[in-house]
Amino acid sequence: MSESTSIDVLLKERRVFDPSEEFVEQTNVKRWMNKRGIKSYDELLEKAKDLKWFWGEVSKDVVEWYKPYQKVFEWNEPYAKWFIGAKYNIVHDALDKHVKTYRKNKVAYIFEGEPGDVRKLTYRDLYVEVNKLANGLKSIGIKKGDRVGIYLPMIPELPISMLACAKIGAIHTVVFSGFSVGGLQKRISDSEAKALITCDGFYRRGKIVPLKSQVDECLGACHSVEHVIIYRRSMEEIQWKEERDHWWHALTEGQPTECPTEKLDANDTLYILYTSGTTGEPKGVISAHGGYAVGTALTLKWVFDMKDEDIWWCAADIGWVTGHSYIVYAPLILGATSVIYEGAPDYPNPNRWWKIVEKYGVNILYTSPTAIRMHMRYGEKWANKHDLSSLRLLGSVGETINPEAWMWYYKHIGKERCQIMDTWWQTETGSFVISPLPITPLKPGSPTRPLPGFTAEVYDEGGKPIKEGGGDLYLLPSWPAMLGGLYKAPERYVKTYWSKLPHMYLTGDKARRDEDGYFWIQGRADDILKVAGHRIGNYEIESALVSHKKVAEAVVIGKPHEIKGESIVAFVVLKEGEKPDDTLRKELREHVGREMGKLARPDEVWFVKDVPKTRSGKIMRRVVKARVLGAPLGDISTLRNPEAVDEIAFAT
Ligand code: PRX
Repeated sequence: MSESTSIDVLLKERRVFDPSEEFVEQTNVKRWMNKRGIKSYDELLEKAKDLKWFWGEVSKDVVEWYKPYQKVFEWNEPYAKWFIGAKYNIVHDALDKHVKTYRKNKVAYIFEGEPGDVRKLTYRDLYVEVNKLANGLKSIGIKKGDRVGIYLPMIPELPISMLACAKIGAIHTVVFSGFSVGGLQKRISDSEAKALITCDGFYRRGKIVPLKSQVDECLGACHSVEHVIIYRRSMEEIQWKEERDHWWHALTEGQPTECPTEKLDANDTLYILYTSGTTGEPKGVISAHGGYAVGTALTLKWVFDMKDEDIWWCAADIGWVTGHSYIVYAPLILGATSVIYEGAPDYPNPNRWWKIVEKYGVNILYTSPTAIRMHMRYGEKWANKHDLSSLRLLGSVGETINPEAWMWYYKHIGKERCQIMDTWWQTETGSFVISPLPITPLKPGSPTRPLPGFTAEVYDEGGKPIKEGGGDLYLLPSWPAMLGGLYKAPERYVKTYWSKLPHMYLTGDKARRDEDGYFWIQGRADDILKVAGHRIGNYEIESALVSHKKVAEAVVIGKPHEIKGESIVAFVVLKEGEKPDDTLRKELREHVGREMGKLARPDEVWFVKDVPKTRSGKIMRRVVKARVLGAPLGDISTLRNPEAVDEIAFAT
């Protein structure tokens, strides 16, 4: 039996991949354990159940407080406070401490633009840019506690903006540059941002995406924004509004290259990041400086075994939590060198990513199953053109990685040498929660077990704990990077996360635990779609559809998709007298694209006369989904219009 066949067999049987002893001894986590006489992973997990000891101990390795904390954490259901009494600012750890050491001349970011332009910024370069922008922000009146919207693509100015805000105690709220006007407007209005940082345009698949014009359209309805700062990226012509608009280069020119870092309380807010909910508008997840710094930095140091000499590439977008935690804050706290790439993974050719790995000698690559499946579809011939021998660890996040994709990644990218760290976490958790460490035996398709310092449990609908088997996935409070609530929505916070079972955080995921205590994530239990790893509420797309003048009602469901994980299927009821045809179908897709961004455009739009509803008028998405997938309909006793169910089947 050849070696690769044996891997196939192992994979099929979901057997364990054990890391070699030699490898294990070199890891950050094993060294930490050895120093403390901890012999095994199980012993580490056991010891880490003492959260105060564990998090207090590991915090020493990753952060420096201005003033030490008095208490590791306090749980006042449903809110946690971490490192109470500490004076802190995450920017101290991300930048200030490094410029006093040899790291000042170390590259923090290697940036490659889609057109091929390259910039390398050392820690000192980054420090200077951040200080100049922070001073620029102060000069236009931005101060501690103010919210600043950031709507930028994957260019170094995005982390620079985040750090400049954090430095002066302002709260950043980054909006993914793939969102369009509607998505931007909701987030900026809710956060009541005083300023918005953007750029003229950026490159995506060889075309320019005009961000500033989307900002102009959005700001008509967002009255809180007094200042717009525009970085010049694409040299596009833009419209200009005197008094409100400032060029980045003009605002920062001549600003001092030093700016004092605001000494905050460790629990002061660092950012608000919006994520989709099951109903209503996106919810603003709040994160604080201190706990978030410890939680993200420690998990990166241990899970990806980050060493000073490593080149780290987290190929996510900073507009999502993955980028916040693992492109911006954690790697900078650890003094790492990270790659930032602006463009599409397959532009101009499907080997773009592999070229980047080879060119910069990337050691650790962290991406999503969707991206892996896309590369898999193009075929390994593209990766085989390049020397990928620099890679030593791989990672996955955002969805469950299916065995085929795991295998492809392992064989063709990692060349059967690199372990795959499948990390389960959420915007709300801020950091990895269920994830292997490089010393953990892997089972392909499972993120293994909760990391030390975290506890996850599975409960059935009746609230009975399940040791082996499937149910709702809960986390036990608390962990350092845990959300500090939802911005301006305390009731929604309680209802969403803390009201199903007492004293436990409801993740919204279904999971199964096997005989070894390994978790297998089975997807969302609620009405949240996962499209290409991005979280989108069914409700949000339905609202966008209904905002079209010809649409009366809409229901949106997700259908399994080979590459994207899920595709978006919409059923639309038109207003009286409106004619369903292909032109309207196209128009509706484009309408959603304009309202929310391309990622939310339905893959299929079907016209129906009615959609299944309960007697109280609530659309039964569950029934629509079951119909489309040919699954059992379940309990339909509350259904008012059974004929609508047949119409769904007929339409598709
Ligand atoms: O359903 C889980 C899925 O992504 C959700 C969180 O989405 P978001 O807040 O956008 O954050 C994504 C990046 C952290 C989870 O509730 N998810 C995330 N990681 C995994 C996953 N599903 C399975 N396996 C994973 N490794």
